[in-house]
Amino acid sequence: MEYRRLGNTGMKVSVLGFGSWVTFDNQLDNSLALECMQAAHDAGCNFFDNAEAYAGGRSEQIMGEVLRELGWPRWSYVVTTKLFWGIHGSDPNMRNTLNRKYLMQGIDASLERFGLDFVDVVYCHRADPDTPMEETVWAMSDMVTAGKATYWGTSEWNADEIRHAIDIAERHHLHKPVTEQSQYNLLERDKVEREYARLHAETGYGNTIWSPLASGLLTGKYKDGIPEDSRASLDGYGWLGERMSDEEALASIEQLRPIADRLGCSMAQLALAWCTKHPMVSSVITGASRPSQVVENMAALDVIPALTDEVKEEMEAALG
Ligand SMILES: NC(=O)c1ccc[n+]([C@@H]2O[C@H](COP(=O)([O-])OP(=O)(O)OC[C@H]3O[C@@H](n4cnc5c(N)ncnc54)[C@H](OP(=O)(O)O)[C@@H]3O)[C@@H](O)[C@H]2O)c1
Repeated sequence: MEYRRLGNTGMKVSVLGFGSWVTFDNQLDNSLALECMQAAHDAGCNFFDNAEAYAGGRSEQIMGEVLRELGWPRWSYVVTTKLFWGIHGSDPNMRNTLNRKYLMQGIDASLERFGLDFVDVVYCHRADPDTPMEETVWAMSDMVTAGKATYWGTSEWNADEIRHAIDIAERHHLHKPVTEQSQYNLLERDKVEREYARLHAETGYGNTIWSPLASGLLTGKYKDGIPEDSRASLDGYGWLGERMSDEEALASIEQLRPIADRLGCSMAQLALAWCTKHPMVSSVITGASRPSQVVENMAALDVIPALTDEVKEEMEAALG
């Protein structure tokens, strides 16, 4: 495994991480979740991503139970969560907010579900234009000071919002956010490659990127229809199914197949290896609906050296 600094921090994270969105509880019970986490860990993965909102809190519970069962030393892995959407109904202070009241209660509830004393990174899952930035930065910094989180970060914030948060933290000598968590893959490049370019160059802000396979689309496996055991077939995920059935996207992705064949890897491995090449990327958070996918995805590590600038350009040109 390759380990990279999380942004400008001294903490090293595996370049391939593992996350639980959609899959934990919906597709993976405790025993399959354990198999997946074990397979990732066997390959050297030390970065395990979660969020309060995943499966209405069940995802954090399952990950916590699995971690206890696996018995890995706490220092050997990084576990994360994200706060914003809330899971406690429609109370105005309990959903879609980064106000101090919610954040303070949200982190305590997450830690309780995990059964952990602290998470390593807590992200603000989205930006909240309704709460003054100073209030959010102060609350996130206090979480770090209280030892409930080691670092804090942002998810899908724009570059101006991140700059604003960093400026406030510097002005008040608070803990700064250290990493983004944004979507990045061969089909979704703009934010990481353009919007954050100067932010990354000037501050070293990191990124633990999500949906590296565009939710599975880049595996090329949906060209003959959506398998019944796919998350795109789950109740409530019809929007994923629609995306996976987009004929134009499916045809375009097929242009990558000859490149994967030539390099002797799967389309999934090719797409994951491509994501690791951007310098802002600290970790590529992979998702998987079954343990065999984890094994395949972690082996993308072996494909990274073959991803020369020429191959990268060839892939990008193939998608037009
Ligand atoms: N911050 C945010 O807002 C945010 C948003 C989304 C995700 N995330 C994080 O990022 C993580 C990864 O995102 P993601 O789950 O969308 O990642 P992804 O890698 O783009 O998609 C994962 C899905 O692709 C399919 N797949 C994966 N590996 C495969 C393989 N080798 N062969 C065939 N199919 C394969 C599986 O779907 P099938 O069920 O079809 O097999 C799997 O569930 C999440 O778990 C979460 O931790 C964060």
